[in-house]
Amino acid sequence: MRVTDLSVRYRTTAEKVPTLKSALVRLGRRERAVRVVEALKGVSFEVPQGAVLGVIGANGAGKSTLLRTIAGILPPDTGRVEVRGKVTTLLALGVGFNGNLSGRENVVLGGMAAGLDRADIEARYDEITAFADLGDFLDLPMKTYSSGMYGRLAFAVAVHLDPGILLIDEALSTGDAAFRKKSEAKMRELCAEARTILLVSHGLATVRQLATDCLWLHRGTVMGHGDPTSTIRDYTRFVDVGEDAVALDSV
Ligand SMILES: Nc1ncnc2c1ncn2[C@@H]1O[C@H](COP(=O)(O)OP(=O)(O)OP(=O)(O)O)[C@@H](O)[C@H]1O
Ligand SMILES: [Mg+2]
Repeated sequence: MRVTDLSVRYRTTAEKVPTLKSALVRLGRRERAVRVVEALKGVSFEVPQGAVLGVIGANGAGKSTLLRTIAGILPPDTGRVEVRGKVTTLLALGVGFNGNLSGRENVVLGGMAAGLDRADIEARYDEITAFADLGDFLDLPMKTYSSGMYGRLAFAVAVHLDPGILLIDEALSTGDAAFRKKSEAKMRELCAEARTILLVSHGLATVRQLATDCLWLHRGTVMGHGDPTSTIRDYTRFVDVGEDAVALDSV
C-alpha cells in the first residue's frame, strides 16, 4: 500500500466572536465564519504487504483522518492512496452496526455492509460469534452492550471478512485482557497470510508488540517512520512522558 502526498482539510463553521457576552447577544443570529482545519499535510509513506503499521501520535494528530481516507470514506484534497486488495475497516467501534438490533442480526448487517452475500455470511457466522464470545448477549440489542462488548463484535466481524487490508482504530484497547490476547493472535495470523494491517493506538506497548513498522504523526505531518522501538522512543521523548508510559499500558 502506498500513500503519496496526502492532504485532507476539514471545513467547519466557528462562531465569529467567541466571547461569552457577545455569544449571548448574538445567540440564534448565526453569525459564523468558516474555519479550515488541515488534518493531513502532504503525508507520504509505504507499507509492504504483510506488515503491521502502528500509527501513533497525540490527540488530533490526524490518525483517524488517515484511516478514513485510506478506507475511502473521506476524499483527500490532494495526493492519493494506492491499495491492493479489499480494504476492511474497523474504524470507530462498530461502524455500521444498529443498536436496536441484536448482536446476531448485526453480524449479518456488518457482513452485508462489507459486500458479502448471505451464503458467505452464513459460512462464517459460527466462527465470528465464537470469536466474539459474548454468550447470551448475542441475542440482546447492541445498545445494551458495554463498549468492550461492542468492540469485540466489531473486531470479530472485521477479521473474518477476508480483509486484504485491515484498518483498526483503537478497537483493541477496549477489550479485556483475555480478548486482547485473542485479537493479537488473530492479527498475527492475518499477517502470516500476508494481509496488511494499520493499527491506530495510544497503547504504545501494544504497538511495540504487534507492529512491524511504526508511523508517528503530529499535527498532520509525518514526524517519524521506521522500526517501532525507535519511533516510539522518539515519540515518548518528544511528548516527554518517558519510556515508563510504554510499559504502563500493558498492565
Ligand atoms: N469532522 C471534522 N470536522 C472538522 N475537523 C475535524 C473533523 N474530524 C477531525 N477534525 C480535526 O482534524 C484534526 C485531526 O483529527 P483526527 O481525528 O484525525 O485526530 P486523531 O489523531 O485521530 O486524534 P485522537 O488521538 O484524539 O483520536 C484535528 O485537529 C481535529 O480537530
Ligand atoms: Mg482518532
